Amino acid sequence: MSNVFALIGNFHPVLVHLPIGFLFLALLFHWMSGKEKYAGILPAVRIAFLLGMISAVLSCVTGWSLSTGGEYDEDTLDYHKWMGISVSVFSLIGYQLSNKPNTGLKKVISVLTFLLIIITGHLGGTLTHGEGFLTKAFNSKSDSSRSARKNIINVQEAQVFNDIIQPILQDKCGGCHSATKQKGGLRLDGKDWILKGGKDGKVFESGNPLGSEIYKRSTLDPLEEKHMPPKGKPQLTEQEMTLINWWISSNAGFVKKVKEVVQEPKVMPALLAMQSAVVSVKKPAIPEGNIAKAPEAALDSLRKAGVIVLPVAANSNWLNVNFVSIPKISDKVVALLAPISKQIVWLKLGYADLSKDSWKLIGQCNNLTRLSIEHTNLTDESIANLSGLNNLLYLNLVGTRISVKGIALLKPLSKLDELYLGQTMVKTNDFTTLQKQFPKTVIDSGNYHLENIPADTQLLKAPVIKK
Ligand code: HEC
Repeated sequence: MSNVFALIGNFHPVLVHLPIGFLFLALLFHWMSGKEKYAGILPAVRIAFLLGMISAVLSCVTGWSLSTGGEYDEDTLDYHKWMGISVSVFSLIGYQLSNKPNTGLKKVISVLTFLLIIITGHLGGTLTHGEGFLTKAFNSKSDSSRSARKNIINVQEAQVFNDIIQPILQDKCGGCHSATKQKGGLRLDGKDWILKGGKDGKVFESGNPLGSEIYKRSTLDPLEEKHMPPKGKPQLTEQEMTLINWWISSNAGFVKKVKEVVQEPKVMPALLAMQSAVVSVKKPAIPEGNIAKAPEAALDSLRKAGVIVLPVAANSNWLNVNFVSIPKISDKVVALLAPISKQIVWLKLGYADLSKDSWKLIGQCNNLTRLSIEHTNLTDESIANLSGLNNLLYLNLVGTRISVKGIALLKPLSKLDELYLGQTMVKTNDFTTLQKQFPKTVIDSGNYHLENIPADTQLLKAPVIKK
């Protein structure tokens, strides 16, 4: 029996259009019948009111059935319900009055019925399509920009819940668990809702991910009915699951910043990935103003040696110098940079084996904003030469023998936006320390494949080798 009752609820969205049509027609005919030309239409008013009343009552019954699913915003639902019932009552009154002479009362009832239908319909729309559904198309700040994840420049300064977790929940769960819809009686679009839980009770228990339905359900077999998000819907990625697990297990709660929470090595890649999505906020890597032209002779000798030397922009004296086309870079060629040391702003000098003097010379190019010295022989010692390059925004040290000790010497580079440290001697565990030393810098570890540590719960089996 309860199944049949639930089934009729499904007819509500179709049925509700009947009373709207019938009653508007009744009101229109009633108004027209006042004109002598259309006086004959009067009997139709009565019929339209009768049909409107019957369909309004049916809508109420099916609506009531649908509402017991518990997936709608309660306040809106309440208003919608009482407005809907009033429409039925007013249509009954309209029907009763329709064969009585026109009076002021009849006019008032007509106007009220008209308003009630509009309000009820709008509330119904809000229940199914969400708040502000009518104006969504005009409101460029609506869903699309709200769902966009906030640009995180430095993940350590980000708020765990607001900046990292809530956007994930909004993306992957919001379609069914937010103001618009509350499947399972659950909303996940805010702290209070999450703490309130769903129809089966609590879904979040700080410190206990597997005791928190909000996480546990995503770990279930995807074919299981309780798996979230349901099968066929966009699923949480490994990274998102790692972050949600970390959020719950580390007791990060709803106000802490990332840096205030313990970060095991295995969440670091996921956290850093949140951050590198923002390279778009780069500052222009060209200094303001211009500089004296570099001596032509110096440029000529560099070009002759095979170095690519280009102005960074038309009519600019700032230079972009690139050694990429030289198979074996010698200190002699690097020495040619001396006369133009002030003009160079971008320097690409990878895979070189350089002397102390060359490193010193590079350290004197203090207008540099971008420096790529990947796979060079730079050491924790020679890096000291670079500590005066305080205009650097971008520094690529990939594949060098640099360790966390050497990086510490770069502390004076206060403008550094991006620091690339893949395949260096910097250890996984060092990245947390480094990020604290360079809070404004996006540090790329490049190496997202991390060693297992005993604290990891993962079990690895040795591959079986067949003889
Ligand atoms: C396509 C719609 C849909 C999406 C997306 C979705 N869910 Fe659900 N969710 C449901 C439905 C339907 C139920 C009720 C059925 C049930 O309890 O299994 C439910 C129930 C739940 C419940 C149990 C609530 C209770 O108390 O019974 C939790 C917890 C939950 N979802 C978490 C999530 C999380 C976390 C996400 C995102 C990662 C998510 N859901 C995404 C449809 C969805």
